[in-house]
Amino acid sequence: MEAFNNIKNRRSVRTFLKTPFRQETEDFIKEYLEDLKTETGPFSHTLNISTIDIEDGKKVGTYGIIKNPQKYIAATVVNTIEGLMDFGYLFEKMILDFNIKKIGTCWMAGTFKRTDFSHMTFNENDVLPAVTPIGYFENRRFFENLMRKAAKSDMRLPYETLFFNENFETPMAEHQALEAVRLGPSASNKQPWRILVKEDTYHLYLEENVKYNNTLSFKMQYLDMGIAMYHLEVALKEMEIEKTWIKENPNVSVPNENYIYVVSYK
Ligand SMILES: Cc1cc2nc3c(=O)[nH]c(=O)nc-3n(C[C@H](O)[C@H](O)[C@H](O)COP(=O)(O)O)c2cc1C
Repeated sequence: MEAFNNIKNRRSVRTFLKTPFRQETEDFIKEYLEDLKTETGPFSHTLNISTIDIEDGKKVGTYGIIKNPQKYIAATVVNTIEGLMDFGYLFEKMILDFNIKKIGTCWMAGTFKRTDFSHMTFNENDVLPAVTPIGYFENRRFFENLMRKAAKSDMRLPYETLFFNENFETPMAEHQALEAVRLGPSASNKQPWRILVKEDTYHLYLEENVKYNNTLSFKMQYLDMGIAMYHLEVALKEMEIEKTWIKENPNVSVPNENYIYVVSYK
C-alpha cells in the first residue's frame, strides 16, 4: 500500500513553511537529482535537471501564488511527444519520492516566466516544460484550503468516464491501479487520461483539449500522460503486476475525434 498511499496523499503545495532545509534534506535532494539525471523514461529520454536558487523575496513570475519556496527545480527535455511523456514520468517519480520525505512540490507549467530560468542550458530542440517549487510544508493550511476549493483541486472526474473495459461503451469496475491514475495531478486539473483495458493490456489515450494543448510551445497534456504512465506502473507493481510499455494501438472505435491513442502497458 505504500506507493498507492503516497499517491493518495500527495497534493500540490503552494504555501511552504519558512523553515530552511536541514542539511540531510539538502543532501537527499542533491543525490536524488544526480541519480535522476542518469535515469531514462519509458521512451529512453533523460532529463537535464537542476535546482535553482531564488533571490530573497523574488517571485518567479508566479503572480504571488507560490509562498516561501526554498528553491525551485527545473528540467529540460527534447520537445517531442515522447520526450514530454518521459518528462512527465520522471518528474512525477521525483515528486512522489519527495512527498515521502515531506518535501512539498507543485507542478508548474503555465504560471511562471520562462525567462527566470533562462540560465539553464538548452539545446536547440529542447524545452523547459515545467518547474516545481520545493520546501517543507504543513498539511492543509487555511489559505491553501481556500485556494484548493477555488481551483477545484480535489475534484476528479467520475471513474466511468475515464476507464473502460474491452470497448469504450463499457466502464471498468473499480481497481486500485486505475484509481492511482485518477488521483494524479494534471495541468489545470483537466484529467485528460483515458484507459481502455482489453485482454489485460492497458491502452492509454489522451482526450485532447486541442485549444489548451496548443497554447504553449510544447504540448502540455503529454506531461499528464507521462504522469499517468508512472502512476499506473507503480500501482500495478505494488500489486505484483509487471508489464512493459509498447505501442500497440487496439484500433477500436473511440467516443470522439479528440481521443488520441498514446501507448499500452502490456
Ligand atoms: C503538467 C502540469 C502543469 C501544471 N501547471 C500548474 C501551474 O502552472 N500553476 C499551478 O499553480 N498549478 C499547476 N499544476 C497543478 C494542478 O493545478 C494540480 O495538479 C491539479 O489542480 C490537482 O491538484 P493536486 O495536484 O493538488 O491534486 C500543474 C499540474 C500539472 C500536472
